[in-house]
Amino acid sequence: MADTKNEMLETSEAQIAAHWKEEEYYYPTAKFISQANLVDHDVDKRFSLENFPENFKEYADLLDWYKYWHTTLDTSNPPFWRWFVGGQLNVSYNCIDRHLPKNKGKAAIIFVPELENDPPLAITYQELYVRVNETAALLREFAGLKKGDRVTIHMPMVPELPITMLACARLGVIHSVVFGGFSGMACGDRIADSGSRVLITMDGYYRNGQVQDQKEKADIAVAQAKGLGAEVDKVLVWRRRQGKNLSVTPMLKGRDYFMDEILKDYKGKRVAPVPVAAEDPLFLMYTSGTTGKPKGIQHSTGGYLAYVTGTAKYILDIHPEDIYWCMADIGWITGHSYIVYGPLALGTTSLIYEGVPTYPDAGRPWRVAEQLDVNIFHTAPTAIRQLRKLGPEEPRKYNHHFKLMVTVGEPIEPNVWRWYYDEVGKKEAVIVDTWWQTENGGFLCSTKPALNPMKPGSAGPGVPGIHPVVYDEKGNELPPGAERAGNVCIRNPWPGIMQTIWGEPERYVQTYYAKYCKNQQSKDWKDWPYFAGDGALYAGDGYIRILGRVDDVINVAGHRLGTKELESACLTVPEVAEAAVVPVIDPIKGRVPEVYIALKPGVTTDPKEIQKKVISAIENIIGKMARPSHVWVSEDMPKTRSGKIMRRVLTAVSNNMPVGDVTTLANPEIVEHIKIMVQSQTKRTPAGETPDDIKRFGQNE
Ligand code: WT7
Repeated sequence: MADTKNEMLETSEAQIAAHWKEEEYYYPTAKFISQANLVDHDVDKRFSLENFPENFKEYADLLDWYKYWHTTLDTSNPPFWRWFVGGQLNVSYNCIDRHLPKNKGKAAIIFVPELENDPPLAITYQELYVRVNETAALLREFAGLKKGDRVTIHMPMVPELPITMLACARLGVIHSVVFGGFSGMACGDRIADSGSRVLITMDGYYRNGQVQDQKEKADIAVAQAKGLGAEVDKVLVWRRRQGKNLSVTPMLKGRDYFMDEILKDYKGKRVAPVPVAAEDPLFLMYTSGTTGKPKGIQHSTGGYLAYVTGTAKYILDIHPEDIYWCMADIGWITGHSYIVYGPLALGTTSLIYEGVPTYPDAGRPWRVAEQLDVNIFHTAPTAIRQLRKLGPEEPRKYNHHFKLMVTVGEPIEPNVWRWYYDEVGKKEAVIVDTWWQTENGGFLCSTKPALNPMKPGSAGPGVPGIHPVVYDEKGNELPPGAERAGNVCIRNPWPGIMQTIWGEPERYVQTYYAKYCKNQQSKDWKDWPYFAGDGALYAGDGYIRILGRVDDVINVAGHRLGTKELESACLTVPEVAEAAVVPVIDPIKGRVPEVYIALKPGVTTDPKEIQKKVISAIENIIGKMARPSHVWVSEDMPKTRSGKIMRRVLTAVSNNMPVGDVTTLANPEIVEHIKIMVQSQTKRTPAGETPDDIKRFGQNE
């Protein structure tokens, strides 16, 4: 129970009016418009709420169905929406087989290894068909997998990753891809939660020019899963280089198998695609939330594939002849939807790059684009900032031409946006700033590339069929032009929305719908707005400007990390009594986590030792991408009188912002101690305009 004064303080802060300079519009070129997939101004009418839900038939009709559905949307059990009920399809068929009659010789995937001397590898649709079939045969016969089973995949950015995913989809096996950068322990937690008996990994890969051992994480993952009661009986290991093993870990007899060796037995095998119901799950993707336990976001087959295919066509403007490059990792939702499923369903050529954008230098992406004639480019603000910092004039040196560029994952600063537009896009590319989340399957807000002008820093209106609404804390609508930040929600269900949280339906309802549902008995979808967990401003022109998370999630270089997960990792260090993790503004990564810890009484260990232990605990339990910028060791934490740690105060200190009124705290004096410690050891200048998520951070405490 927070005491009232603190609660008031926090509420008023959450409702703080935000003012920012309106940016000038930018317009798509006539050349872009003349070739765009979506030029029809009627689209908004077609996708209006009056035409909901039948409007989404337009997307489902982009797919091939074994059996056409009888009910577009079943809302009889809100908020468990069921799309395209009665329909049957197969994702692997839609992404591969149906393209063969006309395009078997066309590149489906072009793999660009990180080492620049290794040539790109093109995989045609026919080759993809063969490899997916053989892999599916192995998964079915050797690994004993069948429809509805779960498989955990922990792999780097290599073609074998989509091949494995598509092989699962061919069988109706539910894949759970864990981002390759996650630690073995994090992978093990996800194996156990999903109940996977099989783990698929790779020996190693290249990152920043170095070989990374991936297989070593598998042993830790299996042990961690076992500790949680989940037995993995097979670990299937792809090899990055034929005939070599990039991992030093021994292969465990009877458990670990090299994929290339077993695949020999399945050469030339074909597996008929298994028709699955539109409502059967296609995959799970774990993501962070307010509590420590990651949520297994469950996505459907029919609704999901229809939605990513439709949005890839209209918003990414993918045509069959495009060369499309999304630099995200396939281990995140962006990669699932917009490297693998959307682009391949449209029969395009999707490029997969193994490594970091700035290896060996900040000209690499533009060389790749020039060499392979990429014309659609998709990345995140953190990469754009890094490329701009290290090579502001690099793009000029290359003769690449993008017709469309995407930014996704975090808010983009208007001047970073302008560099992207002027330098990378050479003032000819349209930019779409697409706002969405793991839970959503595909885009929620973005400009329609040929129809709406761009506005730097703003995502734009809802994409076709998505009707956003911004509510204040009390549930009042903040209409366009309200000039006050609120919580962005979506009024209506859409085909790409998650089905549930794996094994936690109650948590699904609570997290995404409870806040603004007026009547939980209601069967009317209109009573169930989807709560996204982001603060936003609704501008007069109907454009949404995303301000950041309103919950305890930190967006670090586009990686979504839960503070509670980081804090529980800190608490595994025996000397640590309490831990609090807060976001700090970072010019490249957007936000980085900073850790505060209080030691158990009587501990005399050197604080430097403790800092090291805390950092390695975080790296081992979560992954290197979660490494904090600082670990501050303090004798106590600022607390409310009811004993809750005031993360908001620590966030303020870390970001050199005013801490506000702390007199109601149980121990106000500690704030001064912490301030002196932090300010004496960092040369932080006061933050300029403070993003909304930093302002609000910890308000739940
Ligand atoms: C959170 C979701 C699916 C995209 C990759 C991240 C932030 C995402 C934008 C954007 C401002 C954005 C939000 C959101 N976010 N896109 N264009 N502008 N913020 O997926 O890991 O589920 O993270 O990323 O805060 O809630 P995710």
